[in-house]
Amino acid sequence: MSFAIAIDGPAAAGKGTISKAVAAHFGFAHLDTGLLYRAVGAKVLDGVDPIEAARSLVAEDLENDALRTADVAQAASRIAVIGEVRAALVDFQRAFARRAGGAVLDGRDIGTVICPDAEAKLFVTASAEVRAARRHAELLGRGAEATLQEVLADVKERDARDAGRAEAPMVAAVDAVLIDTSSMSIEAAVTAAIAAVEAARK
Ligand code: CDP
Ligand code: CDP
Repeated sequence: MSFAIAIDGPAAAGKGTISKAVAAHFGFAHLDTGLLYRAVGAKVLDGVDPIEAARSLVAEDLENDALRTADVAQAASRIAVIGEVRAALVDFQRAFARRAGGAVLDGRDIGTVICPDAEAKLFVTASAEVRAARRHAELLGRGAEATLQEVLADVKERDARDAGRAEAPMVAAVDAVLIDTSSMSIEAAVTAAIAAVEAARK
C-alpha cells in the first residue's frame, strides 16, 4: 500500500529536517528532491548540458557532499526553470512517491505537480531572515565562508526565481497545511507536521 506525503516550501524553511523526522516516525522512505536539481546544477557547473545532465542522472550522483554549497544551490535554481530538465526528473519522483510502504518527498512542486494526489500535503515556510540565519549557521558549520547578508541575498534570489518561473513554480497547493517555523523549535515543527499527517490519515 502506498501513502505519499508532499512537503514543499522555500529554501532552509526546515523541509528536510521535518521530512526526515516524519519519514522515521511513520517508517516511510524519504526523497529530498532538491538533491536531483542540485546534482544537475553541479554537472552544469562542470560544463555538461543541463537537459543531458538531467536525462543521464544516476543514484551515485546524489551521494556528493559538494551538492550542499551555495554555488550549487544557485546553479540548481537556474536549471530548475528549464521544462525539459524538470520533465526528465518526473518519472523517478512519481515512482518514488508511489512505492509500497509509504514515502515522504520534499521540494517545491511535490504537492502541485509531482504528486497532486498525495494523501498529505504540507507547505513549510519561515521568514527570509530566519531562513538565511539558519542556512548561514549551517554553512559556517561546514567551514564555508559567507556573510549573513550574502546568504540572505542568495535565499531571496532563489525564492524569487523558484516562485516566479513558468514551469512548476513554488506555490502552496490549495489543500496543503501551512506550517510557519519562524519561531518554532525543530521539535515543535516536527510535532505539528506529524499531527497534520495523522489528521490526513483519518
Ligand atoms: O530542507 P530545507 O532547506 O527547507 O531546510 P533544512 O535543511 O531542514 O533546515 C535548515 C536549517 O534550519 C537546519 O540547520 C535545521 O536544523 C534548522 N531548523 C531550525 O533551526 N528550526 C526549525 N524549526 C527547522 C530547521
Ligand atoms: O535546501 P534548499 O531548500 O536550500 O534547496 P533544495 O531543496 O536543495 O533545492 C535547490 C533548488 O532546486 C531550489 O532552489 C529549486 O530551484 C530547485 N528545486 C525545484 O525546482 N523543485 C524541487 N522539487 C526541488 C528543488
